[in-house]
Amino acid sequence: MGNAATTKKGDVENVKAFLQQAKEEFNKKWDEPPDSKSCLDDFERIKTLGTGSFGRVMLVQHKTSSSRGYYAMKILDKQKVVKLKQVEHTLNEKKILTAITFPFLVKLEYSFKDNSNLYMVLEYVAGGEMFSHLRRIGRFSEPHCRYYAAEVSLTFEYLHHLDIIYRDLKPENILIDYTGHLKVTDFGFAKRVK
Ligand code: ADE
Repeated sequence: MGNAATTKKGDVENVKAFLQQAKEEFNKKWDEPPDSKSCLDDFERIKTLGTGSFGRVMLVQHKTSSSRGYYAMKILDKQKVVKLKQVEHTLNEKKILTAITFPFLVKLEYSFKDNSNLYMVLEYVAGGEMFSHLRRIGRFSEPHCRYYAAEVSLTFEYLHHLDIIYRDLKPENILIDYTGHLKVTDFGFAKRVK
């Protein structure tokens, strides 16, 4: 018996199994991060998507891959990272992004550095920030909010199961992809706490 609001025993078991497997995959990548061989010359810079206190995010296109895909390249100025005491935060961000895999989290595709900057090449999320959509339309309807709240809750269930605290949830850090799903971005304050 049961209706749509009833959680079945099988559903609980499926969630447990999913999280268990996610943890194994995360731990493997955490202990042995895969390398991503790439460099700045592989990308054509197209435009600035956003700026922050120690860097910027740019829309870039891969020059050499067969897909010539678009990405969001986060560029961090090493001098500013040090001056603003963000070294530990930046290391946390890269280490966590390298090891996570979840449909509502932005994916890190490549990372590299040069003498001046650190680069994190993320999947490009075409719909932009939830912040801009909210400002344009004023507020979301209740069903619309419920849908986003569900995706954020699932994302945090995943992160907390991996002992990760995110610490920066706000509409500016939630991107909306071209199918309407959310992608949480910016792990600059995230931390793994055992
Ligand atoms: N702004 C910040 N990160 C972004 C991303 N991954 N895609 C699109 N815009 C962004």
